[in-house]
Amino acid sequence: MKRTVLAVVTVLATSAALIQPVQAGGHAKSLRSVAPRDLRIGTAVAGGGHHLDQPYPDPFTYDKPYRRVLAKEFNSASPENQMKWEFIHPERNKYNFGPADAIVKFARQNGQVVRGHTLLWHSQNPAWLNEGTFTKAELRQILKSHIFTVVGRYKGKIQQWDVANEIFNENGEYRSENIWIRELGPGIIADAFRWAHQADPKAQLFLNDYGVEWPGVKVDAYEALAKQLLADRVPLHGFASQAHLSMRYGAPDQLAGVLQRFDDLGLKTAITELDVRMDLPEGGAPTAEQLATQASYYKTTLDACLAVAGCNSFTIWGFTDKYSWVPVFFPAEGAATVMWDDFTKKPAYYTLRDTLAAARR
Ligand code: XIL
Repeated sequence: MKRTVLAVVTVLATSAALIQPVQAGGHAKSLRSVAPRDLRIGTAVAGGGHHLDQPYPDPFTYDKPYRRVLAKEFNSASPENQMKWEFIHPERNKYNFGPADAIVKFARQNGQVVRGHTLLWHSQNPAWLNEGTFTKAELRQILKSHIFTVVGRYKGKIQQWDVANEIFNENGEYRSENIWIRELGPGIIADAFRWAHQADPKAQLFLNDYGVEWPGVKVDAYEALAKQLLADRVPLHGFASQAHLSMRYGAPDQLAGVLQRFDDLGLKTAITELDVRMDLPEGGAPTAEQLATQASYYKTTLDACLAVAGCNSFTIWGFTDKYSWVPVFFPAEGAATVMWDDFTKKPAYYTLRDTLAAARR
C-alpha cells in the first residue's frame, strides 16, 4: 500500500517537474528572479496601437491577471505604444501623458525599470505632424521640444530610450518615409541624441531596429553610423536588435556576432522586442514540434545576449498571445509569445527560465 502511494507520488512529481518546474516551497520561480543580476528581463506593456481596434478594454489598465504576471515575471517594462508620438502627442499643443505615467508608476511600485520607446521614427506619428506644412526650422523645433518635454517628464525614471527607431531600410539607406531625416537630413539623428541626453543625462540612449539579427548591409549601416556618432562625441550608448523573428526565416544563429561588433565599439546592447511567430496549422493550434522550434529560437536569442558582456536588457514583445500584435500584422502567423491566452506557459517560457537560471550561477 505504502509503496503504491509512493510510486504514484513519484510519477506525479516527475511529470510535474517536466511540465512546470517548481521551487522547494511550491512557488514557481519567475524569469526576473532567476536572471543574472546585471540583466533586465522586460516585456512590452500592452495598450494603444492595434489594441484600440480589438474587442477588449485597455489591457494594462483593466486586465488584473495580466498585471499580476507583468509584475511577477519582469523587471523591465516597455510601453508598447503609449510613448509613441501619435499616442503621447496627439495634437500640436496637447500631450496625453496619462497612460505612460501609469506605466512608469506601476514600474516603480514593482521594482521595474522602463525602456522609453520611441522619439524619432517614421511610423505612428500623429496626423497633425504628417499632414502639416512646416518650415525646416519649425520641424526642428517641434522635434526638439517634444524630446525635451517627454524625456524631461520621465527624467531619472527611464533606464534606456530608443531614441532613433528603424532609421535604415533593408538596403542600408536612410528610410525616405522618415519625416525628420527626409526633411532635415541625417544630421538630425545626432541632434535627437544630444537633446535626449540634455533632458535626462542618466538615460542610456539607443539605436533600435529589426532586420539586424544577421550580418548584412543594414548592420553595416548601423555600425558605420555608430562609429561616426561616437567620433563626433554624440551621446550614443547602445544598439538594440528588436528580434521580431519568424520561423519562416530560421534561427538567429549569428546574433551574438552582430551584438559583439557594437560591444567592441564600447556600446551597450539589448534585445528589445523579441517574439517568434509561426505559420499556424489548420485549426490554429501549433504542433509540439513547432513549439519546440519556437523555444529554441527564444533560447538562441537569449544566448546571444548572454554571450555579449554589455548586453544588459532582454525584452520580449508581450508575454501572452492574448494581446500579441502578430496575428494583426502577419496574416496566418501567430502564437508568437511565451504564454497562451490564459497565461499558461509554453515550452519557450521554461527554456528562457532554465537558460537564465543556468547563466546566473
Ligand atoms: C507595434 C505594436 O506592437 C502594435 O500595437 C502597434 O499597432 C504597431 O506597432 N517595431 C517597433 C514597435 O518598434 O513599436 C512595433 O510595435 C513593432 C515593430
